[in-house]
Amino acid sequence: MTTPNAPTPAPKPWEHTKSGQGSAADPLAARFVSSLDYDKRLYTHDIQGSIAHARMLKHVNLITPEDLKEIERGLNEIKSEITDQGDHWPGWKVELEDVHMCIEAALIEKTGDAGRKLHTGRSRNDQVATDLVLWVNESCQGIVSRFKNLADAFVELAERDGSIVMPSYTHLQRAQPIVVGAELLAWLEALCECQRRFFSLTYNDVSPLGSGAIAGSSLPLDRKLSAEGLDLSTISMNSIYATASRDVAVDYAYALSMTSMWLSRWAEQWIIYSTTEFGFITLDDLYTTGSSMMPQKQNPDMLELIRGKTGLVYGSLMALLTMCKGLTIGYNRDLQEDKRHVFAAYDAVCDCLDMAARIVKTTKFNEEKIKQGLDKGFLDATSLAEYLVTKGVPFRTSHQVVGKLVQDCRDKGYEKLSLLTLDDFNAACTDSGSKPVAEQDVYDWLGPENVVKRYQTAGNAGLSGFQEQLKSWKERLKPTD
Ligand code: ARG
Repeated sequence: MTTPNAPTPAPKPWEHTKSGQGSAADPLAARFVSSLDYDKRLYTHDIQGSIAHARMLKHVNLITPEDLKEIERGLNEIKSEITDQGDHWPGWKVELEDVHMCIEAALIEKTGDAGRKLHTGRSRNDQVATDLVLWVNESCQGIVSRFKNLADAFVELAERDGSIVMPSYTHLQRAQPIVVGAELLAWLEALCECQRRFFSLTYNDVSPLGSGAIAGSSLPLDRKLSAEGLDLSTISMNSIYATASRDVAVDYAYALSMTSMWLSRWAEQWIIYSTTEFGFITLDDLYTTGSSMMPQKQNPDMLELIRGKTGLVYGSLMALLTMCKGLTIGYNRDLQEDKRHVFAAYDAVCDCLDMAARIVKTTKFNEEKIKQGLDKGFLDATSLAEYLVTKGVPFRTSHQVVGKLVQDCRDKGYEKLSLLTLDDFNAACTDSGSKPVAEQDVYDWLGPENVVKRYQTAGNAGLSGFQEQLKSWKERLKPTD
């Protein structure tokens, strides 16, 4: 019989308050402390962690084989219910705070005392740290397959349009002639470096499970066994660090940020290339949008959004770093916010990688338009200086000679160094105190088409470098059976 005026029992079974009411009594407090909105998506990882923990508990005789059977049955049922019902699963209760407590409560409802034993020797602090490691590892696979798709798209485009000669830019001023493929493979290399970062995350192979709330447990938990059950190769050394740290999340957000940074640089470059002024590329209509007012417009919004979403991704990294910087060692509730940022950054980067692959697959380089402007900017000036070096002129002197020749061209209104005569070249040599070494073969070193054939250093951005790199990328990206 209930006494009138007796406090209603707290809906959070783990709160033991004097009043009998807890943080669930104020709906704002209930919502404020809850992470359910965003940590629901950890349900498979949470269940995976719980099963590994329960199997270990059975192994060390803290629960019976019957308990384990019940726990596994219950958790597997819960997993399929959530998979089927998603956000509509009736077990999601904001007053239970998070994915961990909702699943545990549902398990207890299904299995009674067996479920009540699951949390033996465990805290949400090591539980959530474990879930996060599992999620990060799994989501890296998603990242890798997206990288692969984008890499294939770059290679495909490089094979199609890669030999087109184009200007390169330093300071966004015309520099030296290159081939389109070399620039495409530059983006590809940058992105592959980004992918590599996902494989060197702090602690992503380390199981924090068994670290408890902060100090471990006085029960004989076999941490190595639960780690093995999770396919993690090792266990954390120090229970305080293991529960206080979100290094794996920060590293992951950094890897995402670097990916975003490179995607953003690429997007910026292609936005410029798609302008009327440049006209180097044409984006597919699918990936441009019109203006609500100007009927002629085809704006590169998808590229702009790839660039723009970098703000969100960097923001997530900053949020995580800032969130951690003032915390005493040990779990603090601030850490709950980590997942919000990690998930947001991950979702944005996945979308951007997918979108980038579609854009790369459908973009065309406009050979004619690029060719029309190729003679502008004396792209072959460095090549001419190197020609003089092959004839024995010291580089600093040849640099001076060519500087003078470019000036001559400008004075004469010539756009191309190849319009100069042998006498012009030799006069510039003698003016700079060098022998007149220019011969007819100088013209083989001039003109962008000639220059891209002459580069011979390993990794060059001309034809030989591009072809060599393309070959090695095709080898590297070959599907492994
Ligand atoms: N949802 C929480 C998180 O993500 C679980 C940890 C709560 N721990 C605690 N000691 N109150 O961090």
